Amino acid sequence: MENIRGMKRTHRCAELTVSDAGKEVVLMGWVQRRRDLGALVFVTLRDRSGIIQVVFNSETNPELHAKALQVRSEYVLAVRGILQQRSPEAVNKNMPTGELEVIATELRILNKSETPPFHIEEDSDANEVLRLKHRYLDLRRPDLQRNLILRHRIAKIARDYFDANGFLEIETPVLGRSTPEGARDYLVPSRVHPGKFYALPQSPQLFKQLLMVSGFDRYMQITKCFRDEDLRADRQPEFTQIDLEMSFVDVDDVIGVNEGFIHKLFKDILNVDIPVPFRRLTFKEAMERYGSDKPDTRFGLELVDVSDIVRGSGFKVFADAVANGGSVRAINAKGGGSFSRKEIDALGEVVKTYRAKGLAWMVIEADGIRSPISKFLSEEETGRLVKRLEAEPGDLLLFVADKDEIVFDALGHLRLALGEKLNLIDHNVYNVLWITEFPLLEWDEEENRWVARHHPFTSPMDEDIEYLDTDPGRVRAKAYDIVINGYEAGGGSIRIHDQELQRKMFNTIGFTDEQAKERFGFLLEAFRYGTPPHGGLAFGLDRLTMLLAKTDNIRDVIAFPKVQNASDLMTNAPDVVDDKQLEELKIKTVGKSE
Ligand code: AMO
Ligand code: AMP
Repeated sequence: MENIRGMKRTHRCAELTVSDAGKEVVLMGWVQRRRDLGALVFVTLRDRSGIIQVVFNSETNPELHAKALQVRSEYVLAVRGILQQRSPEAVNKNMPTGELEVIATELRILNKSETPPFHIEEDSDANEVLRLKHRYLDLRRPDLQRNLILRHRIAKIARDYFDANGFLEIETPVLGRSTPEGARDYLVPSRVHPGKFYALPQSPQLFKQLLMVSGFDRYMQITKCFRDEDLRADRQPEFTQIDLEMSFVDVDDVIGVNEGFIHKLFKDILNVDIPVPFRRLTFKEAMERYGSDKPDTRFGLELVDVSDIVRGSGFKVFADAVANGGSVRAINAKGGGSFSRKEIDALGEVVKTYRAKGLAWMVIEADGIRSPISKFLSEEETGRLVKRLEAEPGDLLLFVADKDEIVFDALGHLRLALGEKLNLIDHNVYNVLWITEFPLLEWDEEENRWVARHHPFTSPMDEDIEYLDTDPGRVRAKAYDIVINGYEAGGGSIRIHDQELQRKMFNTIGFTDEQAKERFGFLLEAFRYGTPPHGGLAFGLDRLTMLLAKTDNIRDVIAFPKVQNASDLMTNAPDVVDDKQLEELKIKTVGKSE
């Protein structure tokens, strides 16, 4: 192999423009492709900026031409040459440097490459398992390079924006203590304290609140968080937050600063103007209209409550649901009247995965109604349903009857499926909104107690504090989520800074004073020494990047991601460790996976 002595890279391949024509350039990169056309050899050279064509001519430089014939895909080259504008008929409109080529005067083969297990190209159709196993090669692909460059830019804009607004970036520990509530922790055994464990942070929540007690006023950090939970397309066991906390603020202050950030981000990256202030929906309204606390509001198909119409109907499923305190709600799938029986059954399968027991339907036809349930409904009831749902011939009405929670979940997901199926989603539009007034608590059936919906430091709304003792389910929180095109991109809250209220909150979720002290003692102790009113928010950096990169796969925006079962296919983590390591930690395993 040759070295680069005496050769210094002058440009990145795709940074060259027509105005550079005539210059001598030195480029270094990988061989995308070599083509032999007899007297000419064309090599496309790739680096992180893109590709450019290099020409080797046997007539003007037979030695160099012969050497070019040795190169193969993914060889690493250094090329010196003269940048030239291509003749008009040779222009390649499909590549940004398609008007240019480099006439080589020197070639060094810096390294060879074995034939890669898959072709390095944009939108590769190679199997993802194979690509993740060789992630370092996968990352050579232009789409992934673009995504990671984008991610860098988002982080940079965040740091600059929050710095300009008086935020200080302060690091918080990764080895911490396990605190209850929230997802399952990743634990790290301590060698020095056998039998004791650190927990990796699910977020820097408690530390950022302590930084407010310390007087830092405005904190931000781009930081890794770890949660041992079931993975989905938008979830990883380790992910990154843009985390922030502010003192002397209420809900509108936190929302204001973050609207500025999101506005700047979309402007700088996509040149899209998101109108400020963003739309706000209360949790209650979001659930009732969209069946979700992270609604995709790029299309309609809103849920409609028809409980009052069918509560006395002959269709027992409907009447019983209402009698048992649940509801019957419906969606008018405009134009869905043309769906086949099979397609309607498939929609029924969608709601069943969200625990609904069935999906009742009605097709509105010019001369009447086609529906398996019309025989159970009176003409008056049917007429009122048609009117309430503003149904016209050609429409399909879809109903779910159950407990509210199931009705919302089932119809919320059905709505998303219909939005796709009926092609109602404009993928070039960004809808950004705040969801506010979340319930503070939710009832945990398994543990038979109230649990904090966000975390136990979230402040109730002032006007609801009085219900903490009498009717905890109705207490709303000073909590807010930011939702972009149906993704929860971030969330936060105003915190409790009053010791008495914090104690009451712990008691409501079933902790005695002793238990609270044992688990959160350091925080409660700190709160005795003058805690400013404070609140904050954390964005999911991965999710923001997904949205701006227009991908729905979180792995596309993470350099070395994990797969569904939380393993890394490239390094094979997690893996067994030496017995000696376990001995030092005084750990014995009782079971092993394969
Ligand atoms: P929360 O738990 O809502 O709030 O997390 C904030 C944001 O982080 C992102 N996120 C994830 N992204 C990828 N994979 C995951 N497993 C994952 N979990 C969460 C989401 C989410 O909106 N300490 C609070 C914030 C606060 O109150 O200030 C917190 O962690 O985009
Ligand atoms: P059945 O009388 O059980 O055959 O149900 C008649 C229709 O009602 C079928 O289309 C079912 O899918 C639908 N159905 C059953 N249970 C529910 C429910 N809980 N909510 C809405 N529709 C339902």
